[in-house]
Amino acid sequence: MTMRLHAARIPTITHVPEQRPGGALEPVSHEPVLASELVSLLAPEPGQTAVDCTFGGGGHARLVAEQLGEEGTLIAIDRDPAAAARFEEFAATAPCRTRFVGADFAEGLSALHGEGLRPEMVYVDLGMSSMQVDAWERGFSYSYDAPLDMRMDTRQEFDAADLLNEWPESRIAQALRRFGEERYAGGIAREIVRRRPLRTTADLVAAVKAGMPTAAQFGGGHPAKRTFQAIRIAVNEELDSLEAALPQAWEMLPVGGRFAAIAFHSLEDRPVKQFLAEKARGCLCPPELPICVCGHEPEAELLTRRAVAPGPEEIDANPRSRSAHLRAAVKIAEPNGASA
Ligand SMILES: C[S@@+](CC[C@H](N)C(=O)[O-])C[C@H]1O[C@@H](n2cnc3c(N)ncnc32)[C@H](O)[C@@H]1O
Repeated sequence: MTMRLHAARIPTITHVPEQRPGGALEPVSHEPVLASELVSLLAPEPGQTAVDCTFGGGGHARLVAEQLGEEGTLIAIDRDPAAAARFEEFAATAPCRTRFVGADFAEGLSALHGEGLRPEMVYVDLGMSSMQVDAWERGFSYSYDAPLDMRMDTRQEFDAADLLNEWPESRIAQALRRFGEERYAGGIAREIVRRRPLRTTADLVAAVKAGMPTAAQFGGGHPAKRTFQAIRIAVNEELDSLEAALPQAWEMLPVGGRFAAIAFHSLEDRPVKQFLAEKARGCLCPPELPICVCGHEPEAELLTRRAVAPGPEEIDANPRSRSAHLRAAVKIAEPNGASA
């Protein structure tokens, strides 16, 4: 996968909390998910450095920043320019040093790693923010009629209209299957191509409904839910970014450093789970060998044997949290015993 921004061009904003006006931050409309669980797994301490890979509305960042204190540093990454604007407000009242990196997180982590940064914690809260969904004109929601956009980074050229109007039918069907686990991917892709050019989210919803049996449109949530998820993931290359970011995040942690990820569907959770399980593996010998001859040592200790999920109270208060899965691990050694 080719990253869209080059490290040398990554814009950063740095703030030192010398003059901190009093008062709380402006309320944001994104409720951070599994917030206390995330903070307790990361265990931030005064003076440490944290990298928040998905700043969003800064809900998690604010809680972590409170623990880092004046001598600590919180580095926030987000590829949505709207998040950069919210970061300005956050930085004005943050109790620690702050810095913003406006880039895809894989690219941002790579740039930070290139600077020699060794943060005590890196965390990621995947998917969309409520602000993105609620900004109807960005086309993330099937509930509003809007242009077919769905770009998280509005500087990116390629958008949902390009995908839907230019990709071959087979590629669209494959994306719907892979990123939406959509059962009627073939029929929906056929309708999309037949109805070109699609201009708005209502055009897409109509194509989805026409591409599936009538009975399938009822009883399983909105019929276009899976298609919208799939197109959004494809437009933003979300899984490629995650696959690229995981080793970056891990490599930059010192021994004792912690990594945590919140995922909202199995396509995001699976790579996180597999990556951490791989890092936590000791012996790599074939199972038929009676004793270990490889001497491979684990690099990670899992802090969550099973993913942490929200309790009923959180789900009641914030239904968006329903599908959240939180996993975390601590780095216990460099690979192959290399020194840090
Ligand atoms: C679920 S929200 C994060 C909410 C945040 N934790 C909070 O408490 O407000 C996800 C954010 O991550 C950003 N994002 C998603 N994928 C990204 C990527 N690959 N690189 C950079 N930012 C990304 C989105 O733009 C969005 O603002």
